[in-house]
Amino acid sequence: MIFTTDVACGAKALSQGMLVAFATETVYGLGADATNPAAVGRIFSAKGRPVGHPLIVHVASVDSAIAWCDPSEAQAEMLAVLSDSFWPGPLTIILPRSALAAPQTVGGLTTIGLRVPSHPVALELLGQFGGGIAAPSANRFGRVSPTTAQHVVDDLGSEVDVVLDGGPCEVGVESTIVSLVDDQPVLLRAGGVTRVQLAAALGMPVLAVADSQAPTVKAPGMLRSHYAPDAEVELIGASDIEARLASAACDGSNTVGVVAPFEVGHRPSWILPDDSRGYAQRLYEVLRQADSANVDILLVVPPTGGDLVEAVGDRLSKAASPRPASSR
Ligand code: TXA
Ligand code: MG
Repeated sequence: MIFTTDVACGAKALSQGMLVAFATETVYGLGADATNPAAVGRIFSAKGRPVGHPLIVHVASVDSAIAWCDPSEAQAEMLAVLSDSFWPGPLTIILPRSALAAPQTVGGLTTIGLRVPSHPVALELLGQFGGGIAAPSANRFGRVSPTTAQHVVDDLGSEVDVVLDGGPCEVGVESTIVSLVDDQPVLLRAGGVTRVQLAAALGMPVLAVADSQAPTVKAPGMLRSHYAPDAEVELIGASDIEARLASAACDGSNTVGVVAPFEVGHRPSWILPDDSRGYAQRLYEVLRQADSANVDILLVVPPTGGDLVEAVGDRLSKAASPRPASSR
């Protein structure tokens, strides 16, 4: 594995069918040439990700995005509005696909997720490579996404050919995913672009998956994703924390940790900002630190302020939901 800031090295490796982990503004991606079935196949085995779980294709601009999709007139109009407002940036747009991507890339679906990332390393890599980069988050399947290059090395070191270091990720949680496949736009995953921002740009409501009747939004992976550390995560309100710590102390044997947007008189604990943007930025790093501290039960108080409350709440409830034994 080569650990470097040399983008040209990453671009060359991609064109040779290798795996390149790279910084984006959301989380680090594990990239491969989206038209190369063998290279894309290596992503699935490196991550231990089930095949049939579609990958996002990263492109350099809306002009390059056009080649990968096959939108109706109405979908093309919405793509134009959204790309104008939010690309480059933390927004993935699902559209009917063209024949360009390898079928493995899109998990055999007739649709494709496209995103123009804003991180300079990602944009430079896309520019030098010249094609589309299929890239899931660069973590083992079901685990916490990496927000530094070191996290990638810790998780997947031996499986990756090149790790392109671009510093810590600014957003810290994965991109917003909006599907334009059905009559009405549907939010498949909350992220750095909010539902309110999307609706304002489009001039129409953006439905939650639960409110949508459309069959196509039941995307593989979407509902059973986990963003989980080893520690068992328990969400808790600020006013309940002292009582819960007291009952945990009586139980004895577990190491209990706390993540909260305020100081608690307990160790180990991590203080995150109450503003959800600042909270999101550091959340995954803190979940990893809790594992390094051998925390068994992690009590987490969500943030209350700022516009990423929905995105952070989504990741926290997934981290706290029961998991299959295989993802531990
Ligand atoms: O911020 C991000 O989106 C990061 C960075 C690297 O760009 N990538 C990322 O990829 O989070 P991944 O694979 O961990 O999550 C992508 C999600 C998956 O849940 C997948 O099911 C969904 O996007 N997805 C991809 N293509 C889709 C499609 N055609 N239809 C529905 N869902 C799709
Ligand atoms: Mg992921």
